[in-house]
Amino acid sequence: MGAYSPTPPSPWRHHLLCSALLLIFIWRTAEANEELAALPPRGWNSYDSFSWIVDENAYMQNAQIMAQKLLPHGYQYAVIDFLWYRKYVDGVYTNSYGYDNIDEWGRPFPDLQRFPSSKVDRGFSQIASKGKPYMEDGKQWTARDIGLTHRTCAWMQCGFMSVNTDIGAGKAFLRSLYRQYADWGVDFVKVDCIFGTDYSPKEIITISELLQELDRPIILSVSPGTEVTPALAENISEHVNMYRITGDDWDKWKDVSSHFDVSSSFAAAKKIGAIGLQGRSWPDLDMLPFGWLTDPGVNQGPHRKCNLTTDEQKTQMALWSMVKSPLMYGGDLRHLDESTLSIITNPTLLKINHYSQNNMEMWELNDKGNLVSSYSRLCATVESVQEQGTAGTRAWVATGSKG
Ligand SMILES: *[C@@H]1O[C@H](CO)[C@@H](O)[C@H](O)[C@H]1NC(C)=O
Ligand SMILES: *[C@@H]1O[C@H](CO)[C@@H](O)[C@H](O)[C@H]1NC(C)=O
Repeated sequence: MGAYSPTPPSPWRHHLLCSALLLIFIWRTAEANEELAALPPRGWNSYDSFSWIVDENAYMQNAQIMAQKLLPHGYQYAVIDFLWYRKYVDGVYTNSYGYDNIDEWGRPFPDLQRFPSSKVDRGFSQIASKGKPYMEDGKQWTARDIGLTHRTCAWMQCGFMSVNTDIGAGKAFLRSLYRQYADWGVDFVKVDCIFGTDYSPKEIITISELLQELDRPIILSVSPGTEVTPALAENISEHVNMYRITGDDWDKWKDVSSHFDVSSSFAAAKKIGAIGLQGRSWPDLDMLPFGWLTDPGVNQGPHRKCNLTTDEQKTQMALWSMVKSPLMYGGDLRHLDESTLSIITNPTLLKINHYSQNNMEMWELNDKGNLVSSYSRLCATVESVQEQGTAGTRAWVATGSKG
C-alpha cells in the first residue's frame, strides 16, 4: 500500500518505531530446513478490498475461502495488511495520530476491538509477556533514543519512522519485535516504507539478520517499489524473499502497462529467483486487484467491482506469471465469481509462474510500429493498426521443465 493524507506531522514520541505493517499466517508451515520462498509465494492480501479496516471476522472468512478454493492452486498466505494495530473509531483514518495500540515496550499489538481473539491465548496473547528495559553502558534506553525523527515515512508521517540500527538499543528493539511476531505464529512479514524511494538498506539488512536468529522460518517482503531499478535491488535481494518493483498497483490499465518495462529490466538483470534470505528472492509486481475491491486510501468503501476488462485482467495475470511474481489476490474472496476464479487459477499460467526458467522479454512492438528486440535493441518497422489507448505488444519467452 502507500497513501497520502493532508494531516500534518505530529510530535514524534508516540510514533510507531518501526515500519512493519503486515502479518501473515500460512496454511502449511514450511519444514525447518526447507529453502525459504523456493517458489514465488502466493496468497491473499486484505488491502485492495478492505484498505486498513479488516477485522477478524472478515479476515477469517476470506482465509477459509482461500483455503477451500485457492490453496489447491498454491495460494497459501493470508495477509492482514496495514494498521492492524490501529483503533477503528469515528474520525480515524490512515494518517491519523494517537490511535495505535502500542505496548509498554513500544511494540504494536492487534486492535482488540477488531481482532477479539487477540485477548485469548492464541499466540497474540504473547503481547502481554513481560520483559526488562534495555540497558547498555549503565543507561536505560527509551524510544526517544532509537527513533530517527527526521526519517518519518514520507507518505504516512503519523504512521511510522525509522529505527537507528547503528546502536545496540535499536537492534534490541527490532529483535524484540520480530521475536514477538515469531511467538505469535507469523510466517511472513511485509515491511513497508523501507524500499524504493523510501530506501533504508541498514534497516532491511538488520531485520534480515534478526530473522535468521529465529527458529521459525519467516518470509521477508519489502515495500513499496516506487522507482526501483535492478541497481537498487542489487544489495538487497539476497537479504529478503520478495521486493516490490513498482508503486501500488490498482485496477487501471495504466497501472498494469507500467509493469512491462520494469519487469523486463529485472528479467534481463537475472533477478528472478536470485539468492534471497535463507532461500530465494522474487521481484514483486504487487497484488492482483480483481473481483470485489475498495478504493485506495479510504476507510469504509466504496466497495465495487474491478475496473479492468476481462482481457486486461488476463493480460495482468499472464505478465505476473511470466515474470514469476508472487501472486497475492486482492479482492474480497466472499464475492469471488467464476470468471475471476478461472483467471487466477489458470493451470498453465500457474505452472509457468512456479516452474518456468530463463523468463525474459523477447521483443516489443512499440506504439511507433517498431519491432524492438529485447536482446540487441535492433529494430524493424512493421505495419500495424493501433487501437487508441493501447501501449504496444510484448512477447516473453521462458523455458519449461521439459525444455
Ligand atoms: C551497493 O553496494 C555497493 C558496495 O558497497 C555500493 O557502492 C553501492 O552504492 C550500493 N548500491 C546502492 C543502491 O545502495
Ligand atoms: C473505477 O471506475 C469508476 C467508474 O468509472 C471510477 O469512479 C473509479 O474512480 C475507478 N476506480 C479506480 C481505482 O480506478
